[in-house]
Amino acid sequence: MQFFLDSAQVQEIKYAIDSFNIDGVTTNPRHIQTSGKPFMVVIREIAKLVEGTEKTVSVEVNPHFMTFEEMLPEAEKLAAISPNFVIKLQCVEPSFKVIEALARRDIRVNSTLIFSASQALQAMRSGAFYISPFIGWKEANGEEIRSFIDDIVTIRDNYDFDSQIIVAAVRNGRQIVDSALAGADIVTAGLAVFQESFQHPYTREGIEKFQKFWDSTLYE
Ligand code: E4P
Repeated sequence: MQFFLDSAQVQEIKYAIDSFNIDGVTTNPRHIQTSGKPFMVVIREIAKLVEGTEKTVSVEVNPHFMTFEEMLPEAEKLAAISPNFVIKLQCVEPSFKVIEALARRDIRVNSTLIFSASQALQAMRSGAFYISPFIGWKEANGEEIRSFIDDIVTIRDNYDFDSQIIVAAVRNGRQIVDSALAGADIVTAGLAVFQESFQHPYTREGIEKFQKFWDSTLYE
């Protein structure tokens, strides 16, 4: 399973590549705004960080763009900036024709803001390279997410679609495990979510216990 960092903070991305070798990056308008930098500046900085690697960076088209005519040229413009870029398009009906047109030009799309298996199915039919079902928003709203991910993986496998499934808006280690058990390809989460998932209170307790034994034992 691949781990993507959901961030547009250059220092954070650098750290996550260096520390636990994240496989890619996903950005969204919220992350870009939080970076405090202009959109074009920050996406170019992130492109530099992953230059010469296989790591993809998902970059979102202006969310006000709702038509084929608006989305297509902007997607092409962004894709021309870096071969690592995958263009994020919100999962709305006009985007499906854009996904097909971009696929013909070998431009990869991440179909984002997916909240139902039927949306996922249509994005996969259109030829999306990635599809991003958001689970954190659903679970926070009391919805069950394990069967949601299971359904999408089953549909992808039933029809042998090429799309890779990025489980997005992941909030904790249990959701990472749920995604892995369901057979999703990728999870994308913030740095703190990954770091918390690497820890366990028993690990800390065990370290303290063993340090005491170590301290009362001779080395040679
Ligand atoms: C994924 O690609 C999105 O950027 C992300 O997971 C959105 O969720 P959030 O901003 O609620 O964390």
